[in-house]
Amino acid sequence: MNIILLGPPGAGKGTQAQRLVEKHGFKQLSTGDMLRAAVKAGTPVGVQAKAVMDAGQLVSDEIVSALIGEELDALPPTQGAIFDGYPRTAAQAESLDSILSARGRQLDHVIELDVNEDALVERITGRYTCATCGKGYHDVFEKPAVEGTCDKCGGHEFKRRPDDNAETVRTRMAEYRAKTAPILPIYEPRGIVSRVDGMADMDDVTAAIEGILA
Ligand code: AP5
Repeated sequence: MNIILLGPPGAGKGTQAQRLVEKHGFKQLSTGDMLRAAVKAGTPVGVQAKAVMDAGQLVSDEIVSALIGEELDALPPTQGAIFDGYPRTAAQAESLDSILSARGRQLDHVIELDVNEDALVERITGRYTCATCGKGYHDVFEKPAVEGTCDKCGGHEFKRRPDDNAETVRTRMAEYRAKTAPILPIYEPRGIVSRVDGMADMDDVTAAIEGILA
């Protein structure tokens, strides 16, 4: 199965993708994570992407589509993929169709997380991850069971993203409204679009997504 999770910054795409990976063994393909890894490694792509990401704008279509193609090439044909944060423009949606068909894959679901943007600023500015295993947490909504210790790997170091500040979040949301939300009509005629209330409790969001995949 190949699934797109769509929604503005902080909608819960990464949170829900991680849960689907754990339950179903999908591969999470997050272009944001790929780009952050490239920035950290100081690759040419990372050097080019850093300033754009820090400003909350979109990295070029060519770069992100090439990253997705490479990741899919490394994936066993029977393993499903969750596209988290990709595609984000009409050009990327078009590229994804070609990338998938060239690899004998097809899109099964596009799941949009429907959210109230004003509430997302609080979600994003309170977010942090384990520096060792990447598990996501939130200052209010998802704390580790033991303060300062990662539930998953026992690590004690945590980090926050440089673009998770209120000003950059507003730019990221504007980019979503202007460039990403308009790609939904590309998928509507295919009958594969579903909407989930992304403001619901995390477990309820997961249950709604599971209902769509069943
Ligand atoms: P990216 O990393 O994709 O960030 P994003 O789309 O802005 O999404 P986020 O990761 O911020 O949010 P999320 O929906 O995953 O929410 P999460 O689950 O963490 O992109 C970053 C940048 O990279 C872009 O700005 C761009 O520059 C570049 N980029 C990436 N892909 C690109 C592309 N395809 N093309 C061009 N440029 C690209 O949840 C947020 C918080 O809320 C968490 O703390 C979580 O615990 C909490 N939470 C989640 N769900 C709930 C719930 N139901 N109730 C309460 N709290 C919740």
